[in-house]
Amino acid sequence: MQAFFVLRRVWPAVLLSSFLIAAGACAQGSKEFQPQVGQEGKDVIWVPTPQTLVDKMLEMGKVTEHDYVIDLGSGDGRTVITAAKRGAKALGIEYNPEMVELSRRNAAREGVSNRASFTKADLFESDFSQATVITMFLLPDINLKLRPKILNLKPGTRIVSNSFTMGDWSADDTVNVKDNCISYCTAYLWIVPAKVEGNWQLGDGELSLKQTYQMLSGTLTRAGGTVPVANGKLQGDRISFNIGGLLYTGRVVGNSMDGTISSGGNWKATRSAKP
Ligand SMILES: C[S@@+](CC[C@H](N)C(=O)[O-])C[C@H]1O[C@@H](n2cnc3c(N)ncnc32)[C@H](O)[C@@H]1O
Repeated sequence: MQAFFVLRRVWPAVLLSSFLIAAGACAQGSKEFQPQVGQEGKDVIWVPTPQTLVDKMLEMGKVTEHDYVIDLGSGDGRTVITAAKRGAKALGIEYNPEMVELSRRNAAREGVSNRASFTKADLFESDFSQATVITMFLLPDINLKLRPKILNLKPGTRIVSNSFTMGDWSADDTVNVKDNCISYCTAYLWIVPAKVEGNWQLGDGELSLKQTYQMLSGTLTRAGGTVPVANGKLQGDRISFNIGGLLYTGRVVGNSMDGTISSGGNWKATRSAKP
């Protein structure tokens, strides 16, 4: 009986102290992870893109609600969240699970969790073939490693990189922001070009094209002789070149391309069966 009274007196104190310990543990658990600029990442450390450059990068990529934006190595999620705020669907691929959780919290706070999602994954093992716009802030050698995969994306896919280039693939556009940006203030844009290298039947002539990324050179051979193809350029599936002082512009769709000539007529070319 005495033991019962002792227990009755001690229980409330035991319960109270257990509650306080549990509450303390919860408060500690809910302490948000604070990322540190320069913290280790799998292949690249974390340095956030200045918001002013994030805005410029998405502007250069012409991101709209019709786009699917993927940020490779998405850090705290700022590019993905900003793309979602522009109405796009956006995905961040990030190796650090704490950064992924932080990004999800940030997206929820900004009210864009329905369009901004994040996955904990290695960008080298991820499929980003469905993206219409890819953003990244990685390193020159990583860009080069990704380049073959990027060049195989759908023509017209826009790639925007903070600060780092793509080796000898020159950018279609470069912008340097001055306002509210101290370091890492340059963005580069590339548009994945259609693949047109080879021989094409153009009217009664044979058009032979040589392609270096988005740049084209070549010749047109007709009964009368061979003339050079000048100023050849691709912008996604849009093609333009000069032959004999006339400007040809048009669109490439698989093994055929067609468009208009500055003289007023139309042109059409189909890929020759022979190499
Ligand atoms: C320079 S930060 C850029 C962050 C963000 N894109 C931005 O512009 O603010 C690079 C990010 O890539 C992540 N990262 C590094 N290697 C990675 C890999 N192999 N796969 C996925 N993420 C990676 C890092 O954890 C870091 O958050």
